Amino acid sequence: MAETGKNIVLAAELLAKGKLVAIPTETVYGLGANALSESAVLSVFKAKDRPFFDPLIIHVPSLEAATLYADFRDDRLLKLATTFWPGPLTLLLPKKEIIPSIVTSGLPQVAVRVPNHSLTLELLGKINFPLAAPSANPFGYVSPTEPQHVNHQLGKKIDYILDGGVCTVGIESTIVGIEDDKVCVFRLGGLAIEEIEKIVGRVELCINNSSDPKAPGQLKNHYAPTKPLFVGDLKELINQHSLKKINVICFGEENNIPNDAEVFNLSRTQNLEEAALNLFKFLRLADESSSDVVLCQMLPNYGLGRAINDRLKRAATR
Ligand code: TXA
Ligand code: MG
Repeated sequence: MAETGKNIVLAAELLAKGKLVAIPTETVYGLGANALSESAVLSVFKAKDRPFFDPLIIHVPSLEAATLYADFRDDRLLKLATTFWPGPLTLLLPKKEIIPSIVTSGLPQVAVRVPNHSLTLELLGKINFPLAAPSANPFGYVSPTEPQHVNHQLGKKIDYILDGGVCTVGIESTIVGIEDDKVCVFRLGGLAIEEIEKIVGRVELCINNSSDPKAPGQLKNHYAPTKPLFVGDLKELINQHSLKKINVICFGEENNIPNDAEVFNLSRTQNLEEAALNLFKFLRLADESSSDVVLCQMLPNYGLGRAINDRLKRAATR
């Protein structure tokens, strides 16, 4: 198990030596390493069992710091950064020479964000390099929203876990960039599209649903528990699996659910922010329970509901 605590000085020292430190953010925990050190970045890929074709997001303390590593040529992206940073928004920007190509898997753009978590912002302010940090889970599995989740799966492979409590958003950042001169959303996430459109007008959805390795974080099977999981109309799913021991992940009223099912309600009051907070915790609990299958209800497709539905579909068995 990795040492867990709130020691920012220790975390900064370890990172400066090329070690791995899990960091809290408002979205999910990240597995942090010095983004300017190829060997440190290499150990992130190894610890996660992550293929090298899947690039990493770099984390910086401010917009000003971001300009050291990426170009803000596009006014629309600059506007999004000034409006939403620190926050659950990642921007794809032309990278500067100083960022090693292992970070971007050889792509000309680097993904950058300023996370909204006081401990991590303090840590980022103490070091003189950006942190490359993918979600702190084994590749393809559910992202961690609590320090214990990180320790449970990666504790043996990392040097320290900075304990910032439970993440307050609970779902990964929204990734935005430019394609054909249009603002594109490449990953749905903790910042709703509706909020982005208030600032830059209509955006395109460039969400990849294939198993094309060029769009890795958007792989069809991702964010997935090990147990069979099905998403759709709950009543139909329950009928189809009537002979099995089931877990139900629902939203709002608990109608037509058999008494012997174990139920995780994402939000009894149908609050999408609350549902995002509970999603990954419930997927983990369902995976650890004694049920045979997990049956999930689709959520309304607006606000954070879109990102939650996206994660459920990618977690589903096919
Ligand atoms: O909320 C988050 O974004 C969390 C926290 C820790 O910041 N991080 C996170 O990282 O979710 P990760 O590595 O699990 O997902 C990053 C996604 C991947 O889908 C990756 O393919 C995409 O971002 N990505 C990173 N750099 C990219 C680039 N240069 N071009 C295109 N996609 C990129
Ligand atoms: Mg991830």
